[in-house]
Amino acid sequence: MLLLTACNNTPKSTLSYAYDSQIEDNVERTLKKMTLDEKIGQMLQLNLPVIGHNDRTGKFIIDEEKLEEVIGKYKVGSLLNNPQSIPPTPDEWYAIVKRVQDKSLDVMGIPCLIGLDQNHGTTYTSGGTLFPQNINMGATFNRDATREAASITAYETRASNVPWTFCPTLDLSRNQLWSRCWENFGEDAFVNAAMAEAAVTGFQGKDPNHIGKQKISVSLKHYIGYGVPVSGKDRTPAVISPLELREKYFAPYLAGIRAGALNIMVNSGMVNGVMTHANHELLTVWLKEQLGWDGMILTDWADIDNLYNRDKVAKDKKEAIKMAINAGIDMSMDPYSLQFCDILKELVEEGSVPMSRIDDAVRRILRMKYRLALFGKPYTDPKEYPDFGSEKHAQAALHAAEESMVLLKNDGILPLKKGTRILLTGPNANSMRCLDGGWSYSWQGDIADVCAVGYNTIYEAFVNKFGADNVILEQGVRYTRGATFEAEAKPEIEKAVAAARKADVIVACIGENSYCETPGNISDLTLSQNQRDLVKALASTGKPIVLILNEGRARIIADIEPLANAITDIMLPGNYGGDALANLLAGDANFSGRLPFTYPKEVHSLITYDYKPCQEVDKMEGAYDYDAVVSVQWPFGYGKSYTTFKYSDILATKAGGQGIGDNNFKAGDQITVSVTVTNTGDVPGKESVLLFSSDLVASVSPDVRRLRDFTKIELAPGEKKSVQLCINANDLAFVGADGKWVLEEGEFRIQIGTETATINCTETHKWDTPNIM
Ligand code: BGC
Repeated sequence: MLLLTACNNTPKSTLSYAYDSQIEDNVERTLKKMTLDEKIGQMLQLNLPVIGHNDRTGKFIIDEEKLEEVIGKYKVGSLLNNPQSIPPTPDEWYAIVKRVQDKSLDVMGIPCLIGLDQNHGTTYTSGGTLFPQNINMGATFNRDATREAASITAYETRASNVPWTFCPTLDLSRNQLWSRCWENFGEDAFVNAAMAEAAVTGFQGKDPNHIGKQKISVSLKHYIGYGVPVSGKDRTPAVISPLELREKYFAPYLAGIRAGALNIMVNSGMVNGVMTHANHELLTVWLKEQLGWDGMILTDWADIDNLYNRDKVAKDKKEAIKMAINAGIDMSMDPYSLQFCDILKELVEEGSVPMSRIDDAVRRILRMKYRLALFGKPYTDPKEYPDFGSEKHAQAALHAAEESMVLLKNDGILPLKKGTRILLTGPNANSMRCLDGGWSYSWQGDIADVCAVGYNTIYEAFVNKFGADNVILEQGVRYTRGATFEAEAKPEIEKAVAAARKADVIVACIGENSYCETPGNISDLTLSQNQRDLVKALASTGKPIVLILNEGRARIIADIEPLANAITDIMLPGNYGGDALANLLAGDANFSGRLPFTYPKEVHSLITYDYKPCQEVDKMEGAYDYDAVVSVQWPFGYGKSYTTFKYSDILATKAGGQGIGDNNFKAGDQITVSVTVTNTGDVPGKESVLLFSSDLVASVSPDVRRLRDFTKIELAPGEKKSVQLCINANDLAFVGADGKWVLEEGEFRIQIGTETATINCTETHKWDTPNIM
């Protein structure tokens, strides 16, 4: 039997962003030569379209006068965004970037830093590779898949002459109403932290001081607590206990920083009453002082302006800039205005923003430019990137999509038998826009059906897989280009019902159309009435129903779930999602995805898996009938396969301890947990092995379960493997009522699959440092 060691949890004693004296010397030398105007210009990021216009063919043309104003006069140090309605090709990007860089070097000898939202692959270069969205990557429970997706995206982004992307997104999507759930790796702090590490090393490589020619800088976003707006609406206030903020919401940022992240973008909203862009404690104290992180902090879109025109914490732009820069912002994404430069200069001259703060910000910006090796020749030749949009990249995206789809229910109808006549129905059955979601060729993803025309929708993939004669397309409900992303045309349910009579099985592709940020706000998590009516009408035909959920958040389907024979949540699987689904439904590939979030059943019963014991209590004795019930459609970590796996022989031992049976540990120790997994079915399959812990008694009521490690293995029928996972004892600590990390003595239950074991902490340990390394 094979022993697989998957100790992903390495002890965290060091930070990987080591000081590099050569880079620091360069930064100091450059800084010394700079005027105040040049320094302030470095701190502004403008929208790239500001420096040009689109010609009649849609091609971006740089306007020399505007370029002179922006870079010649104002010395602006950074630009963002795709300037064309159809994204540029690598050659078009080369022409744009070369002109900008030549001008920047000519004017001040400092290259410009250009950034793009390559949030799930090469969003903004025509012909690039789009991967599944992060929510799918979370569902793969496969760090390597996330690292590979990031690495390919880095390569293709550099091929486009852009050295910086605004991702990974690490907000923890713990409120399913929120319109950006799909941009994250799910609800769990550990999964997001593990994927943060994988993504940062995939994008940047392992040496943050020397980002190679095929690598780019990340931006960890949106720091911090952005994913849990109380109302569920984007960019609205979050209320998070200080304990959870440090213990859970900070965890993925810490992991990303440890992996060497060069940049962080700030949350547009408010946490616990304070606008994050003005929060000195979270920006300067937590990141720069407590961690000693030497990276750069960027605002989100026009968020300094929001401090006065939306949030009313500053009386005007001047006060807002003063607040944000003094709080620790290094670069302002102020897309359309150069006023920032004049105002900040005034603030410095009158002493309201100290020169030391400006120098600190500029040092961080220059350091990032040096680390990216942009000085000298700040552009690359697209010809040096022959794998851009290659078949190799396509295969990686296809496999990631296959590994990300989650089989939630199957009475045996799947895989579909050869020759089955399939009715494909529902608004998501024939649309690339639905498969890709937002940040696909455009912000809202609304031009994907034009830009991704060369890829297969679910319908096209089904025709390829099952044959045109076996696939009937009758959608019944369709989206329209309406005022909202959800707009639907008048339903034609009776047509779909009539078509169902000619089919053996109904595959209903339901969910959401693409959206992003505030335009994706909803007030009801329930799936649309038309779509639920469609499924109900189809059920009356008595034909078996397979539901395909193609959505960026978990829309409630409790009333139609019982009508389905099989259900799979494909979330937003990207350009190869149709092919991946066809492979899976045909049984040519096996399901191995698991839910990285809790799928709710009722609108007012939103919960995450790491809830507190008091949220699930039996009836209490006495006068009051206290009870609380956790009622969910499917739990976190749930996912089926075409095969079955058996877990046995769990053993939890302190690493380097007295041997078998030594389950006593204290702070600083490592615990290894081994378990045997057997494929007891008759097809090969991949299994995500998840390790949970439960602190049995703690001074702060403990979460019922916490994920502590995971890995993914592949087993042939009948094959068994022994898998070893690891826990750092320090990771079992929590933030106590006094705000300090503590590991308390007592027992912890460890659970992997059906197996449980107990480990015992023999000594309470409290840390005085805000973060445990
Ligand atoms: C979003 C960010 C994004 C930025 C730049 C903002 O509206 O919140 O996630 O990176 O725009 O496009």
